[in-house]
Amino acid sequence: MQERLQKLLSGFGVASRREAERLIEAGVVKVNGKVATLGMRADPETDRIEVDGRRIEKRPPLTYVMLNKPRGYVTTTEDERGRRTVTDLLEGLNHRVYPVGRLDMNTEGLLLLTNDGAFAQRLTHPKFEVEKEYRANVTGDAEAAVKLFRKGMLIDGETFAPARARVLKTDPTTGVSTISVIIHEGKNRQVRRMCETAGLEVRRLKRVAEGPLTLTGLAPGKWRLLTEEEVSLLMGKKIRGKIQ
Ligand code: URA
Repeated sequence: MQERLQKLLSGFGVASRREAERLIEAGVVKVNGKVATLGMRADPETDRIEVDGRRIEKRPPLTYVMLNKPRGYVTTTEDERGRRTVTDLLEGLNHRVYPVGRLDMNTEGLLLLTNDGAFAQRLTHPKFEVEKEYRANVTGDAEAAVKLFRKGMLIDGETFAPARARVLKTDPTTGVSTISVIIHEGKNRQVRRMCETAGLEVRRLKRVAEGPLTLTGLAPGKWRLLTEEEVSLLMGKKIRGKIQ
């Protein structure tokens, strides 16, 4: 069956749809020996599809991974500057997956990766409002900051929707507070920018939950497959087809 090339490539775990569009625009995707163009459709059963000279052949099973990302890893599948990437941590996984959304290099915690384009779209689209909970260790007036977070913020002309936020504890000796911030958007460096604007210095930032999923039992640097039930919960419906 013919499919749009970027959809097809994300289904084969090559890259997210947006990233696949970039690959097509960069001219590294070929269909039947010819450089592909955006908007093109192809059939993996009958067409010869290549990315960077490598042939894309068998559609892998739908694969959904939860990783506990440590600091110092870039959220991408390949880094042109040779830095360590989150996919370096997926030892033992037999299928290519790509990250759903992004955690900054120095942010740690729950990161999902998949080869299911529809799943990735659903989780990253603001209209689905999947909640993400972050824990931040900060210095500064945390109580005043969480009040600002709850009202919503305008930062560099960009609107940040009201967050659910509270101070969990403050260490009286160091003055470091741990705050919980729950947002449903995925704007670039969102929590760090909210903290900076509210006058907080972020010492550490970790995503601890996404929708119904938490990191419980998963050590930093480790990954596990999601269960079928977890995938259905995130999708808000039964998933199509078999999962790994
Ligand atoms: N907010 C940030 O500031 N950084 C992340 O990595 C995720 C959310």
